[in-house]
Amino acid sequence: MDGSERNQTMETIMSRHSVREFTGEKVGRDTLETLLRAAMAAPSAVNVQPWSFLAITDGAILAKLESRLPYAKMLGKAGSAIVVCGLPGKDETFAKQYWQVDCAAAAENILLAAHALGLGAVWTAVHPDPERIRSVRETCGIPESVVPLAVIPVGVPAKPDYAPRGKYRSENVHWDRW
Ligand SMILES: Cc1cc2nc3c(=O)[nH]c(=O)nc-3n(C[C@H](O)[C@H](O)[C@H](O)COP(=O)(O)O)c2cc1C
Repeated sequence: MDGSERNQTMETIMSRHSVREFTGEKVGRDTLETLLRAAMAAPSAVNVQPWSFLAITDGAILAKLESRLPYAKMLGKAGSAIVVCGLPGKDETFAKQYWQVDCAAAAENILLAAHALGLGAVWTAVHPDPERIRSVRETCGIPESVVPLAVIPVGVPAKPDYAPRGKYRSENVHWDRW
C-alpha cells in the first residue's frame, strides 16, 4: 500500500465494490438526497448535466421493477433505489452525444458516495437494452424523452466487511506510447 491509500477518498475509491445482499433496513430520505447531491456533482461535457434522477422508496414499485429486470433481483431487499436517467434532448450542440458518458459519471458518484456512507449499492444495467428501458419506463412512469440508464439499488449491506478486490493490472497501462 502506498501513502495515497491511507487518504480517505482514495480508501473509498479503492474499496468500493458492488453490493447485492442487503439487510432490508430502510435508508432515510436525507441519505438518498446526499447521494443525489453526489450524483449531480459529477462532471459533464460542456456542463450540460443531461440527467435526471428518480429515487424510489416505495416497496411495491421496487418489487415490480425487480420482477421485470433480470439482473436486479436484489431491488426489493435493498429498500430503495436511484434510477439514473439521461436527457438526450437537453442539448442541441455536439455535447449531446455525451449524455451516456455524463450519466455514467453521475452513477459512479452515487456508488462511491453510498460506499463512503457505509451503504451498499450496485449498478444494474438498463440502457441500451430496449426491453429493460421499456420495463423501467412503464413501471415508473418515465416519459419517452427520458432514457433510464441504470437502476442503482441502495441499502444496508448484509456483509459489511469485504476485502478490496485488487483489480489493478499493469498490463492495462501504457506509458508515453502504446
Ligand atoms: C454498465 C454496467 C452494468 C452492470 N450491470 C449489472 C447488472 O445488471 N446486475 C448486477 O448485479 N451488476 C451489474 N454491474 C456490476 C458489475 O457486475 C460489477 O461492477 C463488476 O462485476 C465489478 O465488481 P465490483 O463493482 O465489485 O468492482 C454492472 C456494472 C456496470 C458498470
